[in-house]
Amino acid sequence: MDKIEITGGIPLEGKVMISGAKNAALPLLAASILVQGPVDYTNIPNLMDIKSIKLLLEDLGASIESNGSKVRINAASIYKAEAEYDLVRKMRASILVLGPLVARFGHAKVSLPGGCAIGARPVDLHLKGLEALGATISIEHGYIEATTDGRLKGNEFYFDIPTVTGTENLMMAATLATGTTVLRNCAREPEITALADALNQMGADITGAGTAAIRINGVGESLGQTQSILNSANSRNSSTESNPSLKPATINVIPDRIEAGTFMVAAAATKGDVLIQGAEPEHMGGIISKLRQSGASVDITEEGIRVKGGEKIKSTDIKTLPYPGFPTDMQAQFMVLMSIAEGNSVVHETIFENRFIHVNELQRMGADISISGGNYAMVRGVKSLSGAQVMASDLRASASLVIAGLVAKGVTTISRVYHIDRGYESIEKKFSNLGAQIKRC
Ligand code: EPZ
Repeated sequence: MDKIEITGGIPLEGKVMISGAKNAALPLLAASILVQGPVDYTNIPNLMDIKSIKLLLEDLGASIESNGSKVRINAASIYKAEAEYDLVRKMRASILVLGPLVARFGHAKVSLPGGCAIGARPVDLHLKGLEALGATISIEHGYIEATTDGRLKGNEFYFDIPTVTGTENLMMAATLATGTTVLRNCAREPEITALADALNQMGADITGAGTAAIRINGVGESLGQTQSILNSANSRNSSTESNPSLKPATINVIPDRIEAGTFMVAAAATKGDVLIQGAEPEHMGGIISKLRQSGASVDITEEGIRVKGGEKIKSTDIKTLPYPGFPTDMQAQFMVLMSIAEGNSVVHETIFENRFIHVNELQRMGADISISGGNYAMVRGVKSLSGAQVMASDLRASASLVIAGLVAKGVTTISRVYHIDRGYESIEKKFSNLGAQIKRC
């Protein structure tokens, strides 16, 4: 069951419900480490990456109960602050446990997340930020070790570039620091605002999320010194006052703007008529504007976002940028739409250094794309794509191959679809409910 087979050429029609956002759920679940008690989550998507972070949190000692999209995590029982290589290598976003662990226990050891298909994915800004909060960082044998003498201390920190998980890591760590932290040149994605809202529900004091400057006032000074993880492990029943902590809360996960965008592009590319339910249009300005420029009609209604393919698909240029610019996570999907547009378009990828891996596979399906200078792709529209055997390489590239299969003449078989299961819940069921001829095989 490692392949998806699609027979293309069918306009998508009907309604699709968008799941909770992977990139919101991951930091929200990591934030449970900051609470010595139960945190209840709703609208958690059923994804491989979510399974990975739950395994990591359980390995640290947290107790987790899952019931469909409802998850309860109680991190009071965490007894170690070490995230093993085997767990971290499965998912880079595991780095999100580093900030919360060192803030709560004064010590953390997390495997350096390797790079991935789309780029080197360094975490230097995460580490520089923790050092600014007083942590001592060392890297040995592929592990990051962060320690503090007592608690992290509030400080000002300026990100060299806006980093989504870097902003999230530092924001979480600063909630338990003493004093005030001001983070500047922050990423502004909706997932960051959602995390700040959740942390404030847990008793944190954060303002400015969604802007470039975020202020975090550390929770009460009266919480006493942080004990090192070894002490607290030995004196498991020690009074929790000695470890700073946020308080239990119930957190709902925001909808996945990238899943929504993926279905919207598929509707436009197949010249279909699809109602996207459960998405938040506010989070999707860049995507909606580009879809309209390409000739699709996008109507925001009470029921959801209705996308109808235009008579013609018009070419339009894309430049990926930090939010609220056009998201890099939608670049591969939009490139498929441009590959069957009238005219030529330029796709400029400014976030990651190797995010054109899907181009070779699209060329095998008849797309006319050439790459210049590493991060520019010239897309010359062709009349149609032709079905072929292709291989997924990373999460969003595999989504683009599904869209290509939906528009291509004939049959497309996509291998290594485990990439797609990391970030899309039941993708073949959702597309088949829209009339697509798609199956897992
Ligand atoms: C988040 O990754 C998302 N993942 C990515 O989604 C998304 O593509 C990316 O943000 C950009 O929007 C999650 O939220 C779990 P960054 P992240 O740090 O935080 C450089 C998907 O498909 N950088 O914002 O890892 C980095 O190399 C995934 O769902 C440093 O140089 O991305 C990149 O060029 C893929 N040093 C740029 O910043 C650092 O310490 C932005 O990366 C950190 C980042």
